Amino acid sequence: MNSIANYIKQIESELSNFELPNSPENLYDPLRYFFELGGKRLRPALTLMTAENFSGQGKDALNAAMAVELFHNFSLIHDDIMDEAPFRRGKETVHTKWNNHIAILSGDVLFVKAYESLAKCDIKYLPELLNLFNKTATEVCEGQQMDMDFESRESVSEEEYIEMIRLKTSVLLGCAIQFGGIVSDLDAKMQQALYDFGQYIGIAFQIKDDLLDLYGESAKVGKQIGGDVLSNKKTLLNIKARELGCDMIQLSSIIEPNERVRSAQQIFKDFGAKEAAEKKMEAYYNDAIRSLEALPEIQKDLFKSFATYLIERAS
Ligand code: IPE
Ligand code: IPE
Ligand code: MG
Ligand code: MG
Ligand code: MG
Repeated sequence: MNSIANYIKQIESELSNFELPNSPENLYDPLRYFFELGGKRLRPALTLMTAENFSGQGKDALNAAMAVELFHNFSLIHDDIMDEAPFRRGKETVHTKWNNHIAILSGDVLFVKAYESLAKCDIKYLPELLNLFNKTATEVCEGQQMDMDFESRESVSEEEYIEMIRLKTSVLLGCAIQFGGIVSDLDAKMQQALYDFGQYIGIAFQIKDDLLDLYGESAKVGKQIGGDVLSNKKTLLNIKARELGCDMIQLSSIIEPNERVRSAQQIFKDFGAKEAAEKKMEAYYNDAIRSLEALPEIQKDLFKSFATYLIERAS
């Protein structure tokens, strides 16, 4: 049995051999640049791990895993335009290094590359894979739009927030795992259990992302710390802080960015919002573990260790 690190290595090697034309260079250079920045490669690792442990076809699993990672990278390039993010994976974002027009089009062609990769899978799996991929990609767009809409709203309920992150983030983790189940010919019930696990752990993963955005170490996270506070994102920290009586108007009246971020770090902690968000993340982690009931003990442990890694990470 492979370790998580080995699945990641497999994807890294596939990405470094990924062939892209040289011209137009402003279309393809940004993609080469983006692939070289690394990334955790968690989603494709989940596909490979699931497939291998349910004896799926190696080649189909790899193509499906690559489709997920290519789609994810496309979504990040566009997300960084939308979030006006200066850094990603420790380096300049594509739209900062080039420009918005280039980032839009490089992202678009990457989206097509994701489908190209999926289309290499055995034809007997394609209807199921495509249905799930299309549904997932649509939902990610829905979640992203909700995320953007929430920026200009004064408040958002926790329920709305969870639905937004379920769509923008967790469905792709669910899809990644279920892809492994599809190419392993698992029955619908087992596929559903894996998808549920992916959704729950995906929600916990995004809550962790929100926590790292404010409390992470910039060298490890590779993104601008406090970006969510500066763009008025309705993260779980923001929602909990408001709920716990924090003066959000006073916070947003602080003009100097570093000072606003520092102030948010302090008061979100003082009001117990950080702790409340951590508790919520753990609750979703536990839901994820519970949805593994249907799996044999040995596989349960494997998925559990992946889940633990996802919420304990520092990057
Ligand atoms: C970032 O995902 C976007 C979210 C859904 C939180 P990752 O944290 O997996 O990003 P990379 O691929 O490792 O850079
Ligand atoms: C991004 O959420 C989700 C998608 C890319 C679909 P975030 O905006 O929180 O991700 P980061 O923090 O920029 O990686
Ligand atoms: Mg975003
Ligand atoms: Mg972002
Ligand atoms: Mg984030």
